[in-house]
Amino acid sequence: MGQEFVQIFDTTLRDGEQVPGCKLNKEQKIILAKRLDNLGVDIIEAGFPISSPGDFDAVHQVSKVVKNAVVCGLTRAVEKDIEVAAQALKPAKRARIHTGIGTSDSHIQHKFRSTREKIIERGTAAVKYAKTFVEDVEFYAEDAGRTENAYLAQVCEAMIQAGATVLNIPDTTGYCLPEEYGAKINYLMEHVPSIHKAKLSCHCHNDLGLATANSIAGIINGARQIECTINGIGERAGNTSLEEVVMIMRQHPDLGLTTNIQTKMLSETSQMVSDAMGMVVQPNKAIVGANAFAHSSGIHQDGVIKNRETYEIINPHDVGVDTSSIVLTARSGRAALAYRAKNIGFELTKDELDKAYATFLVFADRKKEINDDDIPEILKTAGVS
Ligand code: KIV
Ligand code: ZN
Repeated sequence: MGQEFVQIFDTTLRDGEQVPGCKLNKEQKIILAKRLDNLGVDIIEAGFPISSPGDFDAVHQVSKVVKNAVVCGLTRAVEKDIEVAAQALKPAKRARIHTGIGTSDSHIQHKFRSTREKIIERGTAAVKYAKTFVEDVEFYAEDAGRTENAYLAQVCEAMIQAGATVLNIPDTTGYCLPEEYGAKINYLMEHVPSIHKAKLSCHCHNDLGLATANSIAGIINGARQIECTINGIGERAGNTSLEEVVMIMRQHPDLGLTTNIQTKMLSETSQMVSDAMGMVVQPNKAIVGANAFAHSSGIHQDGVIKNRETYEIINPHDVGVDTSSIVLTARSGRAALAYRAKNIGFELTKDELDKAYATFLVFADRKKEINDDDIPEILKTAGVS
């Protein structure tokens, strides 16, 4: 089966950077933008240029250094925002303006005190105005997750007619279930007459822990761009995690979908973002957490030592991790102790291992984790070295 291409739109430097305490300075944004470019992302959303002079400058400088990816700037459906974004993006080899407006009844009534018709008019005017500066214009229908599908289809058709090349369908509040979000994308694929002229994009938030599942449901139903961040950082509970969606496509060739991402750079990129933002990655985070390839229960360790694939569906090398780790705790078995002792030069007979294991459990009950440095002492106390 031929593989279809899904574009990766990275918004670490925009939605990710909105997180309290995660603000990046211009230099940090430039370093991370170069890294994201090398990682193979297709679009880098570098910031929201009208938001501050510093962000304007950061987007401007990022536009100068990015070699391959499209550089994108966010705007509201406001002329001044669009003018400022176009100016900030001027040095980019390939620039995209990302403009849009809320489309759910909640946003229309409470935020804009407007009507559905007027929202379409404002969106249309914004897209047309953005088109006077750049060819590549993406429109976001904010809170699309809670927007009625029939109206959303009308919005999408109007934006394509106005010149939008990409239609972003954000689940801004992270409300949708995967079936619901997938069905929304499917509905748009079937009910927007000019959909063949544009690409649908998934932008999912993680308020219910469903951002990755929703994005995958979106691409299964025809979307061809995912908006995501490294480590899944972003407003509130975060955005779709780049490393997760990329590895899902890679580990499931049956989906017939592929990306440009150099997966061997994922682990180091995650660390760079975590260091720059001062935001620790939770140890059990899929793909890039410290425990993603660590095995600690005796049953699992025995399996992994015999054959890694018994308990690992991803080869750690594929995401830039040197090796799986066998962690020694009071829940570990003999196989793990023998394996770790052998790694540091102690080959134990069955009898020696039995003795050493009894001593190991006494040590391990006292300490959370047994390190390589503890092993010689355990063996000495057990009288086997
Ligand atoms: O979550 C959202 O709706 C957004 C838009 C501004 C794209 O971040
Ligand atoms: Zn968002």
